[in-house]
Amino acid sequence: MFTPFRLRGLTLRNRVVVSPMDMYSALDGVPGDFHLVHLGARALGGAGLVMTEMVCVSPQGRITPGCTGLYTPGQAAAWRRITDFVHRQSPGTAVGVQLGHSGRKGSTRLMWEGIDQPLEDGNWPVSAASPLPYRAGVNQVPRELDADGLAVIREQFVSAALRAAEAGFDLLELHCAHGYLLSGFLSPLTNRRTDAYGGSLSGRLRFPLEVFDAVRAVWPDDRPMTVRISATDWADGGTTGEDAVEIARAFAAHGADAIDVSTGQVVPDEAPEYGRSYQTPYADRIRNTLGVPVVAVGAISSWDDVNSLLLAGRADLCALARPHLYDPHWTLHAAAEQGYTGPGAPWPLPYRAQPDPADRAHGRAEPEAERDLNRVCRKPAAGRPRISARLGRRRQPCGGQRGDGRGTGQMHGRQPGRARRPARPAALLALAQDAPAQEAARSTAARLTMLTGIFNVLWAVVVLMIVRPGSTTSA
Ligand SMILES: Cc1cc2nc3c(=O)[nH]c(=O)nc-3n(C[C@H](O)[C@H](O)[C@H](O)COP(=O)(O)O)c2cc1C
Repeated sequence: MFTPFRLRGLTLRNRVVVSPMDMYSALDGVPGDFHLVHLGARALGGAGLVMTEMVCVSPQGRITPGCTGLYTPGQAAAWRRITDFVHRQSPGTAVGVQLGHSGRKGSTRLMWEGIDQPLEDGNWPVSAASPLPYRAGVNQVPRELDADGLAVIREQFVSAALRAAEAGFDLLELHCAHGYLLSGFLSPLTNRRTDAYGGSLSGRLRFPLEVFDAVRAVWPDDRPMTVRISATDWADGGTTGEDAVEIARAFAAHGADAIDVSTGQVVPDEAPEYGRSYQTPYADRIRNTLGVPVVAVGAISSWDDVNSLLLAGRADLCALARPHLYDPHWTLHAAAEQGYTGPGAPWPLPYRAQPDPADRAHGRAEPEAERDLNRVCRKPAAGRPRISARLGRRRQPCGGQRGDGRGTGQMHGRQPGRARRPARPAALLALAQDAPAQEAARSTAARLTMLTGIFNVLWAVVVLMIVRPGSTTSA
């Protein structure tokens, strides 16, 4: 998971992606302090790519009044503040924008006030591929988009993409999943059009591909574009895994650099088969049928999961959403647990209070802490082996620790998941953050050493008394 991955001119330093997560916390589509802290924290947490939530291309394209947008210069400036923070404070972390339009799932309440429920007041008209409400009798009947309506929305995507480029995003993802506007064109359950934009899969692909082409034409050449799809609708008559391969093939032929493979949320009466990594088989199928890079997502939670999916060739990148809500530093923790200290997961500079923070996080001895401890313990017992030897810690000239105290970035034969056990006295020192605490730790360590010495002497005397010269043992 700590190997780089290249998409056009962008090299991601590891394979972990913070999956798009709508926070429904914007005012007039402008991302604020909450978004800065939320995305900033996850960027500091070590992921290779941090994705924004779905950023809407127009006010009518919002899901809720709390959704962010890229349809005004003020919104672009607010996003610039966030991308600047990520690039400055977490160099090497890429930040991507997900552009979308809500389609028939728009004009609804904030998630925690009633997901997919229409607003109590202030609803705006919604539009879609076909005049089919998300929930009959609950949600609005959307206006079926005509040629002019399609052209307007295509242009809104283009304007938003131009603003996204100006705002400094490294990657752009087109949201064609979860039943929003473009996804609604792809699914036969939500697209009942009889014109060129409906019917067969190639007809249903027409508008999403037109939008993709228009955005690709203005999005800087060296910056990658991905497409998120719902690879199955989990419903009879809907998109299937086989269709998903054809959808991915079409986007890849138009220049998509990777397909982000999600599922469902297209129709309310879906029957998903949840489970660990439950969407990965769809990503796997696309990757191994087409040879197109894929992002796997959905119930991937441990670094062991991520490594397994990557090593088995089932995905190129793994996106994690809820695990990053639980732990913004998911990637740094994964590195510490695997004993990895290389360039794929560097700690932010201000966090590097000691030379090897990954070791410190796990209470492992660091060369500097170890040197201090040796200084404390060297006396009074002359000839005592160095503390590192007593702790059974081997110095490896090209191993997990280099002479300069930095890791080499390699696993060095250590098995993932089998991190070294903390060396206790050194850990005591490493865990003591400030000078008085370190002093206390040093004197405790010295006292422990003295007591161990006394105990050893007493034990030797007892052994000598029992095993006297000339004595024999009976069978
Ligand atoms: C709070 C929340 C908001 C989400 N918002 C979006 C979004 O804006 N765009 C999107 O494509 N997916 C969105 N998702 C879906 C996630 O990106 C992800 O696909 C899903 O949560 C499964 O991944 P997980 O099991 O790692 O959480 C959201 C998920 C959560 C939990």
